[in-house]
Amino acid sequence: MAFYSALAESIDAYTGLSPVAFFTIVALMVGVYFLVSGFFVYPEDEAASKSSPPPPQQQAPPPEPFVPPEPVQVGDITLEELQAYNGSDPKKPLLMAIKGQVYDVSIGRLFYGPGGAYSFFAGRETSRALALMSFDPRDLNSDLEDLNEAELEVLHDWEEKFKEKYVKVGQIVSEKSKDGNEDENSKQIKENLE
Ligand code: HEM
Repeated sequence: MAFYSALAESIDAYTGLSPVAFFTIVALMVGVYFLVSGFFVYPEDEAASKSSPPPPQQQAPPPEPFVPPEPVQVGDITLEELQAYNGSDPKKPLLMAIKGQVYDVSIGRLFYGPGGAYSFFAGRETSRALALMSFDPRDLNSDLEDLNEAELEVLHDWEEKFKEKYVKVGQIVSEKSKDGNEDENSKQIKENLE
């Protein structure tokens, strides 16, 4: 009751109206608002509200997540052969070498696949570039002779990261030793990949 008298007093003080007159005016204003806003219905909304509700749509199945194939061992591989795994052939895995060790980086295809920020690393020996944090294509090699301690440490950190994240699938060999040493098994592995 006290609340009602306080409300009535406030309405009177602010508007000079009795509560009945005040609420009548408010009700009329709300009514007018809905009446007027009814004139501005979008034609599509009107059509939608008149037509029968659409039949429940067949939900398209969500796209299959990309699952890269299991890493396959390539064994001994030359720098030249490694370049075939640079992402230009979508059937081949993405490979990248650090300090002569070859990693399958297919799961990082957003980085290393075509159009990726680091696609230029794919199919290459990247040690010097990673040590120097360089994007210069001339640094895509394993030449570490003139590097200082700090740069070698950077490279070491990258190597640790790659060992942890990616599967090692082979090692770089020079053309010469490869010709002499390749066994039937490594040949078979490579044939499987082609
Ligand atoms: C402008 C400076 C740079 C920025 C802002 C940047 C940023 C990033 C970011 C955000 C990631 C993703 C990290 C993750 O999710 O694991 C990444 C990954 C990577 N960055 Fe950079 N980066 C820069 C420069 C460089 C440089 C100079 C190099 C080497 C030359 C480099 C090599 C890499 C590599 C190899 C990866 C991928 C690592 C993996 O496979 O997980 N980045 N970078």
